[in-house]
Amino acid sequence: MLELQNLSKTFGKGTANEHAALTNVNFTLHEGDFVTILGSNGAGKSTLFGAISGAFWPDRGHVVLDGEDVTYQPIHKRAQKIGVLFQDPLKGTAPDMTIAENLALAFTRGNRFPLARALQKRDMDILWDRLAAFGMGLEDRMKMKVGLLSGGQRQAMTLLMATIAKPKLLLLDEHTAALDPATAEKVLAITVQTVREQQLKTMMITHNMKSALALGNRTIMMARGRIILDVAGEQRAAMQVDDLLRQYSGTQGTALDNDRMLLGD
Ligand SMILES: Nc1ncnc2c1ncn2[C@@H]1O[C@H](COP(=O)(O)OP(=O)(O)OP(=O)(O)O)[C@@H](O)[C@H]1O
Ligand SMILES: [Mg+2]
Repeated sequence: MLELQNLSKTFGKGTANEHAALTNVNFTLHEGDFVTILGSNGAGKSTLFGAISGAFWPDRGHVVLDGEDVTYQPIHKRAQKIGVLFQDPLKGTAPDMTIAENLALAFTRGNRFPLARALQKRDMDILWDRLAAFGMGLEDRMKMKVGLLSGGQRQAMTLLMATIAKPKLLLLDEHTAALDPATAEKVLAITVQTVREQQLKTMMITHNMKSALALGNRTIMMARGRIILDVAGEQRAAMQVDDLLRQYSGTQGTALDNDRMLLGD
């Protein structure tokens, strides 16, 4: 379970640029929850992920992951428990290292395993199978430098590296936004498959209104540093994109404004 308790973060405190990016955010993510997150530009979505992953410390409040208060835990320590994917396919993998070397690094990184050790043939076979399951032909290019891969292939690699050891939480910050539509769909399908197989607690920021309602089991919307809508179950199943837009403008008095927003497919 992930508990966010009264999380607040103001950037540029005391300056002319002071901005309350998160205000008293309370949120509980249960085992097996896959929540999609929508909101206008600047709503605080990435800031929320930053507070959870340890990119910075919140001004107030707590982040409790599986019973452990990680609010002030350094980012590298949290990286052992929390997998994060960003929009930029260049983040998360080392371009000058081969696919095999990147995977080996992820495998032994941060002692996620009780005994950090070199990759053994048995481990390699498991990774080969998981790569093959992606259907991107990566399994036959183990000796290829990651820098030569396409953006979609790199995001698939990053996803695999982030989930090699089952993380307690997976954070996806518009991780398909920089990809062409067909590749984005493919990476999304791999994501859904990985989340399902490993039963990962997952939070996914997206600008695609339709897939926000279709993927996962719960959807939240953020505006001005707050969660303004949290739907699941039958209520969510009955919702259309129009309902989301109406809810947003109804509570905010302004239209949901996201420069990457997709209403349909
Ligand atoms: N390091 C920072 N320093 C100062 N201001 C920041 C910083 N990070 C974010 N902000 C501000 O906080 C607000 C929330 O930003 P955030 O990146 O969380 O928005 P977002 O919901 O992810 O938007 P987008 O959809 O554009 O990615 C914005 O006004 C942003 O300019
Ligand atoms: Mg963002």
